[in-house]
Amino acid sequence: MEKTLVLLKPDAIQRGLVGEIMGRFEKKGLKLVGLKMMRLDEAVLREHYAHIADKPFFPGVSKFMKSSPVVAMCWEGLGAVNAVRLITGITKAREADGGTIRGDFAMSVSCNVIHASDSIETASKEVPRFFNPDEIHEYYKSEFEHVYNDEELN
Ligand code: PPS
Repeated sequence: MEKTLVLLKPDAIQRGLVGEIMGRFEKKGLKLVGLKMMRLDEAVLREHYAHIADKPFFPGVSKFMKSSPVVAMCWEGLGAVNAVRLITGITKAREADGGTIRGDFAMSVSCNVIHASDSIETASKEVPRFFNPDEIHEYYKSEFEHVYNDEELN
C-alpha cells in the first residue's frame, strides 16, 4: 500500500488544529504509520522546498516553517497519496473547496496548515526525508477489514 507524508505546519500547531486534522485522516480510513513533532532547520527546508528555492517567497516560507515545531505524519492506504491530497485541498487556501482541510481552516497560500506529498514519486522521497526506517511502524490494523473489500485488501 502507498505511504504519504503530511506535515502539520506551524500555524496548525499554534491554532490548535492538530487533533482535528489527524482525526480527518483517521476517519477517512487511513492508517497512521509514523508520527513525530520536530523542528525543521534550513538544510531540510532547502531540500524539501528545492522547487521553490529561487522564488521570492522562499525566505518567507522558510522563516514560517521554522517559527515553531511541526508535526510530521506518515499515512498508509490504497491510493493514499491522492486520497490525502484530495482531503488537503489546493495550495491557495482561500480558493480551496469547503470540506477540505485548507478550505475549512486556512486563508493563506503559505499559512495553509498542512503539507502533503503531491505524487507517489514525491512521497517516496519525502517519507524518508522526515522519518528514519525504524520510525515507520508496520502493524496489523483490524479496521482495514471494514475499510476495504476483500479484493482491495489482497
Ligand atoms: S509552486 O511553485 O506554486 O508549484 O509551489 P507549490 O508546490 O504549490 O508550493 C510550494 C510551497 O510554497 C508555498 N507557496 C507560497 N508561499 C508564499 N507565497 C506564495 N505565492 C506561495 N506559493 C506557494 C506553499 O505554501 C507551498 O507549501 P507546501 O508545503 O508545498 O504546501
